[in-house]
Amino acid sequence: MDKIIIHGGRRLQGTVSASGAKNAALPLIFATLLAPGPHRLRNLPRLRDIHTAERLLTGLGAQVHSENGTLEVTTDSLSGQEAPYDLVRTMRASVLVLGPLLARCGHARVSLPGGCAIGARPINLHLKGLEAMGARITLDHGYVEARTERLRGARIHLDTPTVGGTENLMMAATLAEGTTIIENAAREPEICDLAAALGTMGARIEGAGSDTVTIEGVAQLGGMDYQVMPDRIEAGTYLIAAALTGGCVRVTNARAGHMEALLSKLEEAGTECVVAETGIQVTGPGKILPVDIKTQPYPGFPTDMQAQFMTLMTLCSGSSMITETVFENRFMHVCELQRMGAEISIEGHTATIKGVPGLLGAPVMATDLRASACLVLAGLAAENSTEISRVYHLDRGYEALEEKFRSLGADIRRVPAGS
Ligand code: UD1
Repeated sequence: MDKIIIHGGRRLQGTVSASGAKNAALPLIFATLLAPGPHRLRNLPRLRDIHTAERLLTGLGAQVHSENGTLEVTTDSLSGQEAPYDLVRTMRASVLVLGPLLARCGHARVSLPGGCAIGARPINLHLKGLEAMGARITLDHGYVEARTERLRGARIHLDTPTVGGTENLMMAATLAEGTTIIENAAREPEICDLAAALGTMGARIEGAGSDTVTIEGVAQLGGMDYQVMPDRIEAGTYLIAAALTGGCVRVTNARAGHMEALLSKLEEAGTECVVAETGIQVTGPGKILPVDIKTQPYPGFPTDMQAQFMTLMTLCSGSSMITETVFENRFMHVCELQRMGAEISIEGHTATIKGVPGLLGAPVMATDLRASACLVLAGLAAENSTEISRVYHLDRGYEALEEKFRSLGADIRRVPAGS
C-alpha cells in the first residue's frame, strides 16, 4: 500500500485552487439515473469515490464517458437496478441510487452499507421516507429491495437532518405523483447544489437550503449540464494548514458563504481571514489561541472538519474542547495524534486538547478520510518526518493532495507500494 512521507516544519505560502466537491458530485452523478439524458457534469474532482460512482452507473447499463473532470452520461438503456455489495461497502454514498432508480424504474436493489469506521450510519430514515411515498421495502440477504408502481408525494419528517436521506428522498420525489414535503431536512450547500441541478432537469423544488423542502413531482425529467460546486471541506483543510504552520495560504474557487462556521473559529484561534472575490486567504497567527467547537449539521461546524481542527488545537496556547455530535465514533485520529506528542483526553463525545509546544513526526495510520487529512496536517507541522500509511482513504476525497501541498512549499511525497 502507498505511504505518504512528510518532512514537517515549513511555513506554507501560496495559492491553491479548490476542486469540485466530492459530496456534491456523488448525488449529481446518481441523479443522472432519473432521466435518459444526455447529461454533462463539469468540475468533477478526480477521486476514487467518483470513479466508484462511474463504475456503479456502468454496471447499471449507463453509457459513461469521463475526461478532464467532465462526465458525460446517458442512461436511456438501463439494464439493471442493483447496487452490489462490493461497491457499496467501499462507498456508502452508493445508497443514493435507491431513490432515483426506484422513481424511474419502479424497482431498486441496493446492498446495505453496514458499519464504517466513524459509526453505525444507518439508512433507516431513507427507507422510512420512501415507504411514506408508497414504496414496498423488504430486506433480503443484506440487500434492501424497494418496489412501487409509482411513488406518490408525502409529508416526511426526518428524525435527524440526514444529508444523504434528504438527497435520496428529494431525488425520488421529483418523479412522484403529487407534492412531497421533507421537514427537518438537511441544509448543507450540497443539498442546494443538487436541487439546482435537478431544477435544470425540469424538477420543481422549493426550499432547498432551509429545513423544509417541497418537491412537486413531474411526469418526466430531461438531461442536465451542470458545474459542481467547490469542495468546502478540501478548501478548509488548506486554510487550516496555513494557520497551523504560521503561513499564508489563499484558496481560490472557494465559497466563503459555505464556510462561515470554520472561518469564524479560525479567527477566534487568532488567524487573519480575508475573503475576496478571488478567494479566501488565511494567515497563521504567532500564537494559536484555544477554541472550543461542537460539530453540528450545517450551518453549524462541520463534522468533516473536526479532525483537521483538532490538529490545529494540539498546538494551541491553552486548552480546547471539541464535541462531536453528528457521528458516535469519530475520534479515531486521537490515538494517532497522541503518538505524535499531542495531549488529548476523551470523555464521551468530547475531546479535551491541551496544547503542546510542538508535534513530533512518527509513523501513523490513516483510519478514515478526514482522519487521514488531520494526520497530513499534523505531519506538516511536526518536527522531522511523519510516515502515513493506509493513504487510500485520502484518495477517496482529496484531489492531487501532495501536488497541492508541494505547491505551497511542503515537503511531502508519496511512496508507492512495493518501492
Ligand atoms: C454526509 C457526507 C459526510 C458527512 C455527513 C454529515 C456525503 C457523501 N457524505 O454523509 O461526509 O460527514 O453527511 O455532514 O455527502 N442517520 C440516521 N439514519 C439515517 C441516516 C442518517 O440515523 O437514515 C444519522 C447518522 O448515523 C449520523 C447522522 O444521521 O449520525 C448524519 O448522517 P448523514 O447526514 O446521513 O450523513 P451521510 O449523508 O451519510
